[in-house]
Amino acid sequence: MSIAALKSPHLLGITDLSVDEIGLILDTAESLGDVSRREIKKVPILRGRTVVNFFVEPSTRTRSSFELAEKRMSADSLNFSPSSSSFSKGETLLDTARNLEAMAPEFIVIRHGQAGAPHFLARHCSSSIINAGDGAHEHPTQALLDAYTIRKHKRSFAGLRVAILGDILHSRVARSNILLLHLMGAEVLVCGPPTLVPRGVELLGAHVVRRVEDAIEGADVVMLLRIQLERMQSGFFPSLREYARWFGLDAIRFSRAASDAIIMHPGPMNRGVEITSDVADGNRSVILEQVSNGVAVRMAVLYLLAGGGEREAAA
Ligand code: CP
Repeated sequence: MSIAALKSPHLLGITDLSVDEIGLILDTAESLGDVSRREIKKVPILRGRTVVNFFVEPSTRTRSSFELAEKRMSADSLNFSPSSSSFSKGETLLDTARNLEAMAPEFIVIRHGQAGAPHFLARHCSSSIINAGDGAHEHPTQALLDAYTIRKHKRSFAGLRVAILGDILHSRVARSNILLLHLMGAEVLVCGPPTLVPRGVELLGAHVVRRVEDAIEGADVVMLLRIQLERMQSGFFPSLREYARWFGLDAIRFSRAASDAIIMHPGPMNRGVEITSDVADGNRSVILEQVSNGVAVRMAVLYLLAGGGEREAAA
């Protein structure tokens, strides 16, 4: 059964989405992706709507692609910078959000270092809240753009073998991807140093594999994760050199994957640590394609949360 609208006014995590809703977002991204290929990259879909981009943690890809998605749909974007705002004087998250809300935005896109910050805003604000990454919890639009990219290359998720390698423990990207890919019928394998593979990750739908070579063997998709040194309080592995030696993806390790396997990385990359440059820049890499697809997927999310599907259904 196909659906025409999302049930929630917020996008807080993959856990809230059904298979049909994920399909709807990916199909809508397919249609809206065309806008970015036109000479005039603008449509009036969100004219008169305001989006606050509230990024308390640094971002290159997510923030830029949300902003471009908003501009390509003619929304008004307000980019909130914590370092140059009263947030840096100790104003609370809720007071900041309420003050921004007093200026009547329809959406707040939030990235925050604390897991649950978007859920907290969703409980207390009337705007539509979009999670752009909360601590080590979820990064739903990243998983959606990854799924969109995979679907473009592999057509179907059922039976697909996806190896996610690296720092699983600190990765909201891993969590959202495991949830989404498992829900869509893929086989998800995770591998990393035992200290960076969280206990209970199997409950999300992943299989833990100890040797990286075994995880890559026959994989259709090899997804690398960044070693998040900024989130590590103590030594999770002896050295970056040792990490690269035992867990890094190079051409020899990648040769174990399926002959048409693709390489993904959400960025930013630590070249020479989790991935070598020849592999990252090679012809099986879709890393920059993921970034391009991020705009279409975020356009779709904004469009559907703004009621686009409902309008279509009613037309
Ligand atoms: N993939 C991702 O979230 O990248 P940024 O941190 O640059 O937004």
